[in-house]
Formats: sequence, structure tokens, C-alpha cells
Amino acid sequence: MANVAVIGAQWGDEGKGKIVDWLAERADMVVRFQGGHNAGHTLVVGENVYKLSLLPSGIVRGTPSVIGNGVVLDPWALKAEIERLAEQGVHASPETLRVADNCPLILPIHRDLDGLREDASGAGKIGTTRRGIGPAYEDKVGRRAIRVCDLAHLDDLGPQLDRLCAHHDALRAGFGEPPVDRERLLADLREIAAFVLPFAKPVWRDLNEARTGGKRILFEGAQGVLLDIDHGTYPFVTSSNTIAGAAAGGSGLGPSGVGFVLGIAKAYTTRVGSGPFPTELEDETGQRLGERGHEFGTVTGRKRRCGWFDSVLVRQSAAVGGITGIALTKIDVLDGFDEVKICVGYKLGDETLDYYPTHAADQAKVVPVYETMEGWQESTAGARSWADLPAQAIKYIRRIEELIRCPVALVSTSPEREDTILVRDPFAD
Ligand code: IMP
Repeated sequence: MANVAVIGAQWGDEGKGKIVDWLAERADMVVRFQGGHNAGHTLVVGENVYKLSLLPSGIVRGTPSVIGNGVVLDPWALKAEIERLAEQGVHASPETLRVADNCPLILPIHRDLDGLREDASGAGKIGTTRRGIGPAYEDKVGRRAIRVCDLAHLDDLGPQLDRLCAHHDALRAGFGEPPVDRERLLADLREIAAFVLPFAKPVWRDLNEARTGGKRILFEGAQGVLLDIDHGTYPFVTSSNTIAGAAAGGSGLGPSGVGFVLGIAKAYTTRVGSGPFPTELEDETGQRLGERGHEFGTVTGRKRRCGWFDSVLVRQSAAVGGITGIALTKIDVLDGFDEVKICVGYKLGDETLDYYPTHAADQAKVVPVYETMEGWQESTAGARSWADLPAQAIKYIRRIEELIRCPVALVSTSPEREDTILVRDPFAD
């Protein structure tokens, strides 16, 4: 099976962009299957830096790219991102980009609702990206969504729009907001339809054809397993399934088509937004990790919370996410520390746990149990083989592998694509 799915094994921002770009060069097709423009993937190609939110990373190198039905698509964000990339010389055309025609749309009313709820939530807020992701998924599941295919039938949208507006008007009234401006919404949809429709297709057909033809498909996950709507730190999660299983449902290729699952994990941990984070460091060490790792969100610019590597969480992610191998990223951020710590278990009152409890109150209460290892003073930045790594760094990676019970397939040692140690080629499996 030559297909590969890349998913985040922590709370997102694990450095998926670089790994996906590295794999995309050898893929015949790159597919996004969940999330939306809440994602932020940074690709460094030579002198150029590309920041993608919604578009699959393959687009930068001209690899045919697909936005699957599991994504929630803001058509205005799509247009803006395509135009921004065009200014950098990357052109997305209907030949290189296909959008699933059964993909639900994010509308301005979803963005409104996301912001209104966050503003009204005080300390309980989720810290969303305010892009309308959650409200759009709610309407999808509530069978009220307007989908890409509806853009070709706007004259028949009447009853569907009635249902959608009735729902949102009630919610908006609760926030003291005026009802949805239906005429304006329809006019905006008419305008954007001309832009989106040339990209719209039943992409499941292309995918199944590619599979039958022996093509290599790369599934590009967004966010991470700990933000998964079912398996993450609920309610501080995103509104989609971020595990590899979602690649099948979110694209229209069955589960047997997913192949090797590469989980991306940072050599330490970060989180952006609210929610529990057992190994968070609110001291100088946390500050140092953030500075060395340039830990600011690609989408919102928010400062990321930082802490030591948590092997309990990544082991859990590997299990529920279906991860075959791990790509360990940003090991160079740990260069120069006298000692490094790994969380190997939790204390919850008198109990010792080797898994993350399900209830939010317990998740917030657990105290990490650490194993301390000697650090390394040499630089690992730019290493391309094990021989380039200091012995202590190798020991650290091997210990992680043992603790998470999952082999390391790749080690990434800088944002540059070639600065990668390949242990096991995911496409060769
Ligand atoms: P939403 O996806 O905008 O609803 O946000 C829900 C949670 O997921 C918040 O904690 C966000 O910070 C987090 N989140 C969403 N997308 C990303 C991402 O691409 N990287 C990291 N965190 C994300």
C-alpha cells in the first residue's frame, strides 16, 4: 500500500508542513480531509516561505491537490489564499486543485457565531481560531449546511436557506444580534460561486481512480489527535476528527486506502488556545522553548504554550490515531539544555496513571511524573544522519520511541526540507 496519511500526534503545530512538503514531492496527489482554514502549514522552499491554511501543501509544487468532503470550506478564504499564492508565483488551477462538491461551506454567519460565543464565554472560552469551523460542522451534522454543489443551484436554495436562517436567527437573537441578512448572503454566494465552481468535482471518483491506477496518495491532516473531537481534550478541541480514520470518510476512499500513518510529534510539547496541558512550563524553561522554537501561531499569531515532551499523550495518540511511525520534529530546539525531561506517567491524587483520564477535571488535575535525562550541548540543527547527532540526542530519541511504543520513521532537524534523517520511508511500506 503506497498511500500515506500524515496526522499531528499532539495539539497541532508539530511541523507537519515541512514533512508533508517532503512527502508531497513523491506523491501523485495530496488530499486535505478535515478541518478548514483554521490550520496553518508553513512550507520553506529555498528562499521562499509559503503559509497555507486551507489549500493542500501539494499545490506549491504543482502536485494535484484535493480538498475533500471532510473539510469545511470558506469559499472567500479559498479565493484569498489562491490569490495570495499567485502573488508568490504559485498558480492553483482546476487542473491542479479539485474541491469535493459535497464539501460544506463556512459562511459569514458561522464566523459571526464563533466570535459571539467566544466573546460571551469568559474564562470558559475554547480559544478557537474564530474562523467559523465549529458552527459550520454543527450545521453539517444538523443537515442544514449549504454545500459546494449548492452553488450551482442557488435559485433553488429557498427552503434550505429558510431552515438555515431560522436556526441562526434564533441563536443570533440570543446574543442581541440582528437576523441574518438573507439577500446579502445570497448575493455574496452568487458572486463567489463563479470562482469556486470550476474547482468543484466528485473527488471520490478521482481518488478511487488514482488508487486503482497505483498512484501514491498523500493525506494531509490538520491540527492533532489531542484536538480530535472524540479523542482529544474535550471540550477544548476542534470540531472534526483529526485521527487517520477520518482520511477515509473525509475523502471518499475506503479505510483500506489510507496506508502508512505518519504521526508528527515535536521533541517537546506546545499548545495554542485553552485547555489542559500537564507538562506546561510557565517558567524560564518554557520561555526558552518558545523563543528557540519560534512558537507563535501561523493562523492567529498567538503565543504558544510550551512544555516538556509528554510520552503518555503521544502513546495515546499513536494508539487512537492509528499511527504506524512517528516523525519527530524540532529536536534542535532542545540543543544546549543541561537536562531534558520526559513525562512518563501521571499522579492523580494517590493513583499513578499510564494514560490520560477522560474527564476534563481529571485532565486538569494530573501531575506529570518526569524522567530526567542529560542534555546535549552540540548542535543538532541541520543533521541529516544519525552520525550527525550527539549521543545524548540519540538516547533521547530512542527513549521516546520506547515510551510511546511506536518507531521513529523520520527526524527533522531544521525547517529546511533536506534537513531530515530518514529511518523508514513511509511510501515504501
Ligand atoms: P477551532 O478549530 O478554530 O474551532 O479551534 C478549536 C481549538 O483548536 C483551539 O484550541 C485552537 O487553538 C485549536 N486549533 C485549531 N486549529 C489549529 C491548528 O492548526 N494548530 C493548533 N491548534 C489549532
